[in-house]
Amino acid sequence: MAGYPLKAHNTFGFDVHAQFACLVEREEQLLAAVRDSRVADLPRLVLGGGSNVVLTGDFAGLVLLVALRGRRVVREDQDAWYVEAAGGEPWHEFVAWTLEQGLPGLENLALIPGTVGAAPIQNIGAYGMEMCERFVSLRAIELATGEAVELDAAACRFGYRDSFFKREGRERFVITSVTFRLPKVWQPRAGYADLARELAARGYAASAESADVAAGTSMPPTAQAIFDAVVAVRRAKLPDPLELGNAGSFFKNPVIDAAQFDVLKQREPEIVSYPQLDGRVKLAAGWLIDRCGWKGRAMGAAAVHDRQALVLVNRGGASGADVLALARAIQRDVLGRFGVELEAEPVCL
Ligand code: EPU
Repeated sequence: MAGYPLKAHNTFGFDVHAQFACLVEREEQLLAAVRDSRVADLPRLVLGGGSNVVLTGDFAGLVLLVALRGRRVVREDQDAWYVEAAGGEPWHEFVAWTLEQGLPGLENLALIPGTVGAAPIQNIGAYGMEMCERFVSLRAIELATGEAVELDAAACRFGYRDSFFKREGRERFVITSVTFRLPKVWQPRAGYADLARELAARGYAASAESADVAAGTSMPPTAQAIFDAVVAVRRAKLPDPLELGNAGSFFKNPVIDAAQFDVLKQREPEIVSYPQLDGRVKLAAGWLIDRCGWKGRAMGAAAVHDRQALVLVNRGGASGADVLALARAIQRDVLGRFGVELEAEPVCL
């Protein structure tokens, strides 16, 4: 299809086109596009950084490219600062900016690709923190009506890599801005294994309590130290989408019930697991895939990353269908060997 090229707007780098595209730098442009009678009946697709989507073909409709910018401290009270950022702000630049302002609290989420407006959709999370812990509210425009709505955390129904926007709200809204609450009393969040190791290598302890400043063995980490360590860990494990197309973790870490886990653990004593508050157990999908021998393997130009089996990559020239075929082969093997179903994390279109 001729039309607008989306290759630069999806981090897998798939060479697909949209029939129409609209660059949204101001809210009025969005409202005009939503109300334009010439495209009123066409399907719409909202793209921010395109870092959590698998485009399996051309899109016969209107793509809205959200490029709304702006970030500010909106208010403060005794306990916290409140910061607001526009939906098109690159997430990592926003996190770096909060630290420059002396407002810590988002440092564990450094270097996550994508935009601020995309962050609530899958409730981004990494290294011991999820976005929902800092979320206050968001503003969005409903595509069908052009009406602005404000949604709080309860309305967004956040879960692990999940929200209202991946279910009933799917493709119905453009998130124009998000407000976060950053507590004035800051506590380092440094317990996640990879992060704790990186901090220790840099001379930091995992918490203020375990720091032994007097003995000179380690010091409590600062927010900047956590930010730097997270960036280093991510760079070591996760491919840069600009160099190797990918959408981060391709599968969610599956959660199974305790009885199924006990049986698995007997058979696979080394299985990596995280007990959940509700008694169920989350498994490391990367470990399951790795165990099935998939790490570094390819099917055509679609491949499993050689440093993190949870990430599928486009080695150059792969299509969305190639990546989905690889994903299905992996799902089949993991189900066959462990009896566990893997669910894709990105939105597949
Ligand atoms: N593992 C392997 N082999 C692999 C990959 C992982 O054995 O190829 C093992 C690791 O040794 C470790 C465990 O599996 O014991 C977990 O691995 P890791 O700490 O790398 O984290 P993950 O569970 O694979 C999740 C998130 C990432 C996030 C990291 C850090 C999901 C689906 N993924 O990955 O999020 O950055 O934890 O918090 O929850 C993303 O969502 O796009 C993403 C990158």
